Amino acid sequence: MPRSLSGRSFLKLLDFSTEEIQYLLELAKDFKHLKRTNTPHKYLTGKNIVLLFEKTSTRTRCSFEVAGNDLGMGVTYLDPGSSQMGKKESLEDTAKVLGRMFDGIEYRGFDQQIVEDLAKYAGVPVWNGLTTDFHPTQMLADVLTIEENFGYYKGLKMVFMGDARNNVANSLMVVSAKLGINFVACGPKENMPDEALVATCREIAKENGCTIELTDDVKKGTKNADVIYTDIWVSMGEPDEIWAERIKLLSPFQVNDAVMANANPEAIFLHCLPSFHDLETTIGMDIYKKFGIPEMEVTDKVFRGPQSKVFDEAENRMHTIKAVMYATLK
Ligand code: CP
Ligand code: NVA
Repeated sequence: MPRSLSGRSFLKLLDFSTEEIQYLLELAKDFKHLKRTNTPHKYLTGKNIVLLFEKTSTRTRCSFEVAGNDLGMGVTYLDPGSSQMGKKESLEDTAKVLGRMFDGIEYRGFDQQIVEDLAKYAGVPVWNGLTTDFHPTQMLADVLTIEENFGYYKGLKMVFMGDARNNVANSLMVVSAKLGINFVACGPKENMPDEALVATCREIAKENGCTIELTDDVKKGTKNADVIYTDIWVSMGEPDEIWAERIKLLSPFQVNDAVMANANPEAIFLHCLPSFHDLETTIGMDIYKKFGIPEMEVTDKVFRGPQSKVFDEAENRMHTIKAVMYATLK
């Protein structure tokens, strides 16, 4: 049993021990059971939280809202552009004001330093709902989904394909190192994770008996993989002009039938979502008109196929975020 997480912020997984991450996963399983059995769990009635979003969201926002309501809390949402933060009021002042009114603050936005500073000044737990560097709540949902499919996660091989230096890839590398999952970043040399972060993760991985590998060789990287993971090629906050370059660079790392066939026959496919796997989005259609590609980081066939667990993964965002809020606010 790890020390209590009460009063802690959840900013990045590097701040948490293996036991603490495992504890959050166990808690999430309990909450999933309560939800599935329609058992009320308004354990935090009387508390209030605020969700501060500087970027758009479907899953993360809805997870915090539903989880907050299920726990009996009041939930306030501030959408991108509707708070004073940064424009008329400093981050420090905003954090101090929100900390006086709310018991917890979720932040989605840009630099990791912003969420770290919010936590420094707010005096209440702050949860990172995605920054340019990390997406830690996503990781708990991903590992829970892996465990639901294999019954365990330690010793498995997880491969991230594509833009291997984005927030999701960085976080997957950290959570893998912490939990003993063998991690492979499979992408072009130009898009590999930061060297210092790789070195830190390799040290942690050594303690937990797993490896961190970087490769641009798709065949070698995905051989016998248990989990194939990808994410969009251009993340929120990056300029539209970068699409052409990314399509050229990342197309060889698309998750398709050949990739899945090279993996373990029992392998699962994960994606944090949203995903460009068909032409049913305005951006997907624009890209198709400009570059002639009807699907990007994953083919529609793999996305909709039996190995894809992306909607279980999306549901698990809610149960795991509930665990994080409960553990830090109780
Ligand atoms: N995976 C994820 O964070 O989705 P949203 O951007 O919809 O929150
Ligand atoms: N890398 C993506 C993740 C979205 C959940 C982004 O930052 O846009």
